[in-house]
Amino acid sequence: MNKDARQIIEELRDQIRRHDYLYYVLNQPQITDQQYDQLFTRLKKIESEYPELIAPDSPTQRVSEQPLEAFDQIAHSVPMLSIDNTYNPDELIAFDQRIAKALAPQKYEYVVEPKIDGLAISLRYEDGLLKTAATRGNGQIGDNVTQNIRTIKAVPLTLLNAQNAPQTIEVRGEVYMPLKAFQQLNDLRAEAGEQFFANPRNAAAGSLKLLDPKITAARNLSFFAYSVGQISEPIADGHYDTLQRLKDFGFPVNENIKKADSIENVIKICNDFTKKRLTLDYMIDGMVIKVNNLVQHDLLGSTGRAPKWCISYKFPAQQAQTIVRSIDVQVGKTGTLTPVANLEPVLLAGTTVKRASLHNFDELNRLDVRCGDTVLVEKAGEIIPQVVEVKKEFRPDDAEIFKKPTICPSCGEKIEVRTKKRTGKKDEIAHKSEKTHSYICTNKNCTTLLKEKINYFVGRDQMNIEDVGPSLIEQLVEAGLVKNFADIYKLTKEDIVELERIADKSADNIVKAIRKSKIIPLWRFLAGLGIRHIGGQSAQTLSNYFGTIEKVLSVDEDELKKIKKQEKDEKKLLKNKLNRQEIGKEEHKEKLKELQKNEKLKDIGDEIIDSFCNYMKDTKNKTMIEELISVGVKPESSQKIKSKEKLAGKTFVVTGTFTNFSRQQIEQEIRDAGGKTSSSVSKITNFVLAGENPGSKLNKARQLQVKVINENEFLQLIHKKTSPKKEGHLWE
Ligand code: IVH
Repeated sequence: MNKDARQIIEELRDQIRRHDYLYYVLNQPQITDQQYDQLFTRLKKIESEYPELIAPDSPTQRVSEQPLEAFDQIAHSVPMLSIDNTYNPDELIAFDQRIAKALAPQKYEYVVEPKIDGLAISLRYEDGLLKTAATRGNGQIGDNVTQNIRTIKAVPLTLLNAQNAPQTIEVRGEVYMPLKAFQQLNDLRAEAGEQFFANPRNAAAGSLKLLDPKITAARNLSFFAYSVGQISEPIADGHYDTLQRLKDFGFPVNENIKKADSIENVIKICNDFTKKRLTLDYMIDGMVIKVNNLVQHDLLGSTGRAPKWCISYKFPAQQAQTIVRSIDVQVGKTGTLTPVANLEPVLLAGTTVKRASLHNFDELNRLDVRCGDTVLVEKAGEIIPQVVEVKKEFRPDDAEIFKKPTICPSCGEKIEVRTKKRTGKKDEIAHKSEKTHSYICTNKNCTTLLKEKINYFVGRDQMNIEDVGPSLIEQLVEAGLVKNFADIYKLTKEDIVELERIADKSADNIVKAIRKSKIIPLWRFLAGLGIRHIGGQSAQTLSNYFGTIEKVLSVDEDELKKIKKQEKDEKKLLKNKLNRQEIGKEEHKEKLKELQKNEKLKDIGDEIIDSFCNYMKDTKNKTMIEELISVGVKPESSQKIKSKEKLAGKTFVVTGTFTNFSRQQIEQEIRDAGGKTSSSVSKITNFVLAGENPGSKLNKARQLQVKVINENEFLQLIHKKTSPKKEGHLWE
């Protein structure tokens, strides 16, 4: 071994790490990007000459060459909780009163931090090295995104000053996409004709959920640390000092974090930040207010969902003023026409807004939006911008009232206007008018309508046909290859390679993805049909109720309505008992919960029943479903699909080498049989599958008394046997 090379490599790594720290943590770079690149290139060169010296924590080893097949799951050792929200100073004062009461007579102080709009990550370091990174998931178990997190330069692969750090430390924080990176990404997507990310949060989440870390690496994600999870020894007494320690260990901590000794000061900091946030190069959606003292955190405890020592203060939605250039009418998947305003581009909450929804023609009427109008736009849930107000004082004299359409803008056929009484629901858009009107294109040959329907059908929450996206559907419909859902399943590889810009390999993938979607949970199938008012939730209830597609097709409307009425009556009866004080509030709550648990048509209202039955009554729809079945689509109840999967609910850790499979193949076999794979052995592991030369995972399994099986036992488990004649060959 060449001692000099080892030394040079170590020095270069240390230098690069120091410059990462200066750049990402202290925001004080001391060298130019070019000088940094030179150091990096040098290190790479020497490492390529001495590959035996390459170590996983080297700055050159951030991007793994090997894409993942799927994400493992990681159980959080300390749950990742959520935060309760407040929206005005009064709610903050109420929070402070709760804290004062719970801690009295103790004094306390707060730490106020920007609430970064990205996604929460837990980074686990052992002996100073980044071991795993997991998303929040459901708070208890998240996705193992270590490969992708390693590509983020703001996340240290090794702790700085590791000698002062605990042996185990979980650092939690937010992965986010800086606004500049977000804009660049969307520009690139625009050029490639791909769909935009609605906001930096979605872009960050989408980038972390990619299986190929090389793509994640190109997305320029960044990170701020804001707390710790499991830790083998304490590092500070207070939250503020914890953050300072994290900085010393090499983590970027937001520079705008302040201490406040009273709630009045907290409110002042929040107010000051309402403006300041617009100058940042990342999105924040509010402030987080935390009690500083960690002993007081324990005293205050948590509700299970969120800690009581912490609250967020959400900023009001951001607004921007701009001008309406024109108003378009769009056709949606159920044929509903929606007016959309084309705007003079304006920067709003990190994105350039060019279009805004007007929801429906009643809303357009209520606001009286006209071409040329100056309007205020706002981001609802910070995703879809909408017009909230017209500044009538700026209206040009010649601005004409928008005329509602009488024909479909796509196919030119006459449209249908349906009127319905408003339901009075809080979130109903046209809440100001008594009735709502839907303008609907019912022309079965309308190509825009067809494309929308197909796009929805193949979507992630419906049939989930992975490689079939909007641009392919556009081509398929235009080429006349797809005229209905069933046509998708008749496509051959030859049909697809004929299309523009589709290579042989992609065509293969598309055909495979289509084939894979044939066995589908019934609820996904029902959701995919795009029946008015029927989304994932109601489709699941209906699927549980019917169980099979045959029963769906012979739906009895009277029976559904009878059941719905019974369920409503039972609730009414219970309410009456409460009103007559025959039962108390608590008992009512308990009994209501029990009733709801047993409801067959939970969350299915009359409107949904009507829509569903009307759809199923229509012979054209029935024929279309039958055709889908005849081309091989098999909607089945989720339980049935799961029970067919031999390894459903089982988690495996694979170690060593195998006779019949590569590591990737055997992990795929596990997933194909409904099992999960994980890279580390824990109490939730069901089996460790050990091949030849197993690693330390085998010892860990023995320690934790996890069942260990060999390749043959695994094959028996999935009912595959190795051939006695031809070793290594598998047959069913
Ligand atoms: S503290 C138990 N601090 O907000 C509380 N969270 O809406 C742990 N977030 O899931 C979180 N900035 O992803 C904390 N400065 C900050 C934050 C922050 C953003 C996110 C975090 C959390 C979500 C809750």
